[in-house]
Amino acid sequence: STIFLSDYSVPDFLIDSTTLRFELGEASSLVCSVLALRRNPDAASQDAPLQLHGTELELVSLSIDGRQLDDSEWSQSGEQLSIANVPASFSLCCETRLRPQDNTSLEGLYKSSGMFCTQCEAEGFRKITYYLDRPDVMSVFTVEIIADQSRYPVLLSNGNLIETESLADGIHKTVWHDPFPKPAYLFALVAGKLAVVEDQFLTTSGRSVDLKIYVDEKDLDKCDHAMLSLKNAMRWDEDVYGREYDLDIFNIVAVDDFNMGAMENKSLNIFNTSCVLAKQETTTDAGFQRVEGVVAHEYFHNWSGNRVTCRDWFQLSLKEGFTVFRDSEFSSDMGSPTVKRVEDVTLLRTAQFAEDAGPMAHPIRPDSFIEISNFYTVTIYEKGSEVVRMIHTLLGPELFRKGSDLYFDRHDGQAVTCEDFVLAMEDASGIDLKQFRHWYSQAGTPRLHVSGTYDEQAQTYTLVVKQSCPSTPGQTEKAPFHIPLAVALIGEAGQLALQLTDAAANIESPDNTELVLNVTEPEQRFVFANIKEEPVPSLLRGFSAPVKLDFDYSGAQLLRLMRSDSDGFCRWDASQQLGLVEIKRAITALAAGQQVSPDSEYVSACRELLANTSLDAAMVALMLQLPSEAYLAEIIHPVDVHGIHHAREALRKALATALSDEFSACYSRCESDEAYAPDAAQIARRSLKNTALSYLMLLDDAQSIALAVRQYESSSNMTDRLAALTYLVNSTAAYKAEALLRFYQQWQHEPLVINQWFQVQAMCRLPGTLEVVQGLMSHPAFDIRNPNKVRALIGAFCGQNGVNFHREDGAGYRFLADQVLLLNRSNPQIASRLLVPLTKWRKYLPSAQQLMCSELQRVLADPELSSDVYEVVSKSLQDY
Ligand code: ARG
Ligand code: ZN
Repeated sequence: STIFLSDYSVPDFLIDSTTLRFELGEASSLVCSVLALRRNPDAASQDAPLQLHGTELELVSLSIDGRQLDDSEWSQSGEQLSIANVPASFSLCCETRLRPQDNTSLEGLYKSSGMFCTQCEAEGFRKITYYLDRPDVMSVFTVEIIADQSRYPVLLSNGNLIETESLADGIHKTVWHDPFPKPAYLFALVAGKLAVVEDQFLTTSGRSVDLKIYVDEKDLDKCDHAMLSLKNAMRWDEDVYGREYDLDIFNIVAVDDFNMGAMENKSLNIFNTSCVLAKQETTTDAGFQRVEGVVAHEYFHNWSGNRVTCRDWFQLSLKEGFTVFRDSEFSSDMGSPTVKRVEDVTLLRTAQFAEDAGPMAHPIRPDSFIEISNFYTVTIYEKGSEVVRMIHTLLGPELFRKGSDLYFDRHDGQAVTCEDFVLAMEDASGIDLKQFRHWYSQAGTPRLHVSGTYDEQAQTYTLVVKQSCPSTPGQTEKAPFHIPLAVALIGEAGQLALQLTDAAANIESPDNTELVLNVTEPEQRFVFANIKEEPVPSLLRGFSAPVKLDFDYSGAQLLRLMRSDSDGFCRWDASQQLGLVEIKRAITALAAGQQVSPDSEYVSACRELLANTSLDAAMVALMLQLPSEAYLAEIIHPVDVHGIHHAREALRKALATALSDEFSACYSRCESDEAYAPDAAQIARRSLKNTALSYLMLLDDAQSIALAVRQYESSSNMTDRLAALTYLVNSTAAYKAEALLRFYQQWQHEPLVINQWFQVQAMCRLPGTLEVVQGLMSHPAFDIRNPNKVRALIGAFCGQNGVNFHREDGAGYRFLADQVLLLNRSNPQIASRLLVPLTKWRKYLPSAQQLMCSELQRVLADPELSSDVYEVVSKSLQDY
């Protein structure tokens, strides 16, 4: 059944305090909760029954103010337990029995590698006990944990440890108290045999915070990076947002089985091992960066999410969009800002644009949902972050900070809405965001058509900007958006001074060579005066808005931007647009049975890039990488997966051939034997070196293969080793089987490395990969109950291996539907996420559409579909 934002009403009851006692056992665990309940004075009805959420629970006993209720006093239907005729204020005591060891959904209380842990966001708490499981019900929690001391020496929950005690029969107990009222989704519990890495952080106001990272003993050597990232994040949030930590203890726990990346439970963050553990031998540069980003993200939630939380789940982007914006600015400050921006934009333009154009498109504040777990999406997170970034752009950094101070101040301890966030920004800045609010309510990616005309006589340059937005499910008409469009005009010798004939409507940057245009109308004209030469416009600088931009650039104009734009994003984007032109030419050439030969100007520009040692190596690497097949699938319609793949590969091979000497020289230049560090300079150098190697491998000659084999065998870091393995696996090298075998033998005791081993094979572009993947499903190291393994093998194959997933016989689609049907029973969240590639069926050629649809129909026909899978599959088959 569908839930609507418009049906929101305040809770009928409030819970002033929550006391939980967990008796954790091998056969079953007992939960006893004592809730101090009272009627909400703001509720519409003052005699409504008490309705508690609960699911998959065994109810042992229920009493009110010490009196046991008999069966006639309560009733149950679906996820609701109703008790009529309750007093205005009372104590409810409830006992439930759970079997965490059988909980494969990884939601609620479950076991992972012998340890008890919890995941309650969004609605997992109702799998622990009957409760008002909604984020606007906030309560002070006291938690008693009782368990066997030798099996579970570490017992953790939120807040401060107030008591520990040894009981009879080798049982022990701890009691935790969290002074901050919080919604149930932020509750957490951990019990296990865990080793710990400890450090300290001194806040600006002088509070000394104990920082602890709990991991499996064998992972103690992989915690340094997370600890450093945590301390950097704590310092950064003080410096940039004036936000300090508020308790004396901050715990992180790593668990193997986790549906998402991590969870910001108050003072007890629980992490997927993949987002906390890192060391050079086992973790790639991207892995190090992910750890830094996720540690910061969860830490930042302490303010943007915990101190100020969401009123209801339609407001999810209030905490997630804002927190992603905060963590991306942090990562940008810690590393290379342009590279971070390009990576974020790439994710947005592939995954998020695809979501916004597909059957599950939703605004960053959705109007309705069936299953909230399906809305932890790139739209809520990444587009949500872009919306906050646009507010930052429109206000400027100082007013934005005033706005965030006001927001945190005004709403500390409250559960609020996206509207409250925007209001605080408006009130603090005096800037009108009325029209800007459409970004919260309208789905779909706006399109900007821009054209430019130079008038030599009048010495003016005119930009005409038209905006539109395609219809999305349930939304056919869209009001125009308020779009901040950052622009510069590039002349022969650099950026021109900008002077708008109607300057009032626009924001000026400190140096007058860049402006942010306020695009608010369906069609708008901006005239720049005193322009002495015909310029090349640099548009959407820094990707100032999450839109698709069309400007009919000539090749020469793009080359000028690629060579000289001062905006790193636009410079990179120009290289991508040139690459796109070449790929389109290659598609035409191949279709006509001709050879693929890239434009000589384009080849020269690439040669120049390879020789340019003054440019950031990471930028060179990014600019040399052609637009991905995923991005091309967003641009070229209908998507002929195989045609695109072959054209792109042919172009890559032609570039490798034309520039083989340059790639070799670049490779040698990037080699280094300095000690590994995951810093921006080294990451850049490895990225360029491996980009060069990937091109050289396309030559398919003994020399290149030898280079890859040498790199594979001699690297002491996983970045270089895995890159070499990837290229070998995708080549004809005889050595690849041996390399894979040796890799497995060396790393079989490191699950996170074995995930990478699965993934490399699942992503192999060569024919026959589906059979390899199917074979690996019965490999002893594969475990369908572990989401990381499922993502590494099934997820990577279906989501990141276009040519093989879209096999013309439909076997890839059938494989995915089979896995979804299987996982639907054990872990619905993972099942529905895995299904996403099939839901994009409308993009592809008619033959593929038909095969994909029939697999979706087969999934839909399963009589026991979870709400998660049902929502995704049914919406994907609906017309819109
Ligand atoms: N709030 C978490 C984060 O973004 C993710 C929520 C996890 N949700 C889940 N259903 N597993 O950091
Ligand atoms: Zn988050």
